[in-house]
Amino acid sequence: MNDPLVDRLRRPLRDLRLSVTDRCNFRCPYCMPAEIFGERYEFLPRADILTFEEIERLVRLFLGFGVAKLRITGGEPLLRHGLHELVASLAALDPDLDIAITTNGSLLPRWVGPLRDAGLRRITVSLDSLDPDVFRRMNGGRFDVERVLEGIAAAERAGFDRLKINCVVQRGVNDHGLLDLARHFHGTGHILRFIEFMDVGTRNQWKMEEVVSGAEIVERIGASMPLAPVDPNYAGEVASRWRYVDGGGEIGVITSVSSPFCGDCTRARLTTEGSLVTCLFAEGGVDLRAPLRAGADDDALREIIASTWSARRDRYSEERKELLQIEGRPPERGERVEMYRVGG
Ligand code: GTP
Ligand code: 5AD
Ligand code: SF4
Ligand code: SF4
Repeated sequence: MNDPLVDRLRRPLRDLRLSVTDRCNFRCPYCMPAEIFGERYEFLPRADILTFEEIERLVRLFLGFGVAKLRITGGEPLLRHGLHELVASLAALDPDLDIAITTNGSLLPRWVGPLRDAGLRRITVSLDSLDPDVFRRMNGGRFDVERVLEGIAAAERAGFDRLKINCVVQRGVNDHGLLDLARHFHGTGHILRFIEFMDVGTRNQWKMEEVVSGAEIVERIGASMPLAPVDPNYAGEVASRWRYVDGGGEIGVITSVSSPFCGDCTRARLTTEGSLVTCLFAEGGVDLRAPLRAGADDDALREIIASTWSARRDRYSEERKELLQIEGRPPERGERVEMYRVGG
């Protein structure tokens, strides 16, 4: 292991989020609105996307800096051909590596078995509503909610008995269905997490009025199904945990807007095209693909990773909160990495 690497705010590098494709079969308006991502939208050409060998090489270097957790994202990661082979090669790098995936669930019936056999440990499924109409609207009219529920059932059959279910909450869009979701997953062993709608990227028409705070969500669910707070599993956990007092399991709220967690943020992101991004809200990243393809040796690549992380001072969500409090407006959105490129 190299020397412990910390950024300017003394945060270590612990998690790596890997986006393996910029494509998605959904068109969630808050991420890839169908008006922009239509038939003619040009996704990255194949040559621009990191190969599995390139990803594996970079991940090995990141592990040397103390990364212990990998989260595979997209776009929709299951659209990447042969993803289970990548998972197998990453699992072989370190038997203790925690490998997780965040997926929209639609392709789980086909792939969850091979992924489990390859060494995938944890799965998070995005599911914004159980209401058929709301669900369809929230994925751009592409899929029925049944399809995702089938994906969840397939994951259960494959032995994933503690899924995380992510629900992005938008006031006036899906917030009337939160209790239905809570009831549906109560007692199943899965952990439902409500995410405050965030101003990621430049295209999702974010408005503060559409954010439902984690506190309000907990209050609304707790009024019908009493909740009590639970300590975090580890410092810097993104979701705050709440358990049902009746023993029916737990839920989480991810309060990036109302109560940011930048102080403990140990996450680096590697985009589909091999750029190292140090914050979900960054304007850009540091290209690792060009040096990699130009024949840089491991030391040279390590140097780029180390210098990028050491210079990191990102704390966007805290800055957003400060600005909202002082000026009542969020920061301007100029250049910003889009969510489907950087993987949430
Ligand atoms: P585990 O704790 O390993 O289960 O994973 P996680 O909760 O980090 O994973 P997941 O991808 O499910 O994260 C949940 C959501 O929280 C993401 O999809 C984002 O919407 C949000 N999120 C994750 N990381 C960050 C972050 O660094 N900053 C902000 N602002 N939001 C984040
Ligand atoms: N705000 C909050 N969460 C978002 N996600 C995508 N866009 C946003 C947004 N604007 C969520 C997805 C998925 C995860 C990768 O990030 O629904 O659960
Ligand atoms: Fe696809 Fe996820 Fe973005 Fe929805 S939020 S468009 S499922 S990548
Ligand atoms: Fe980390 Fe940036 Fe999210 Fe803050 S806003 S928690 S620094 S990714």
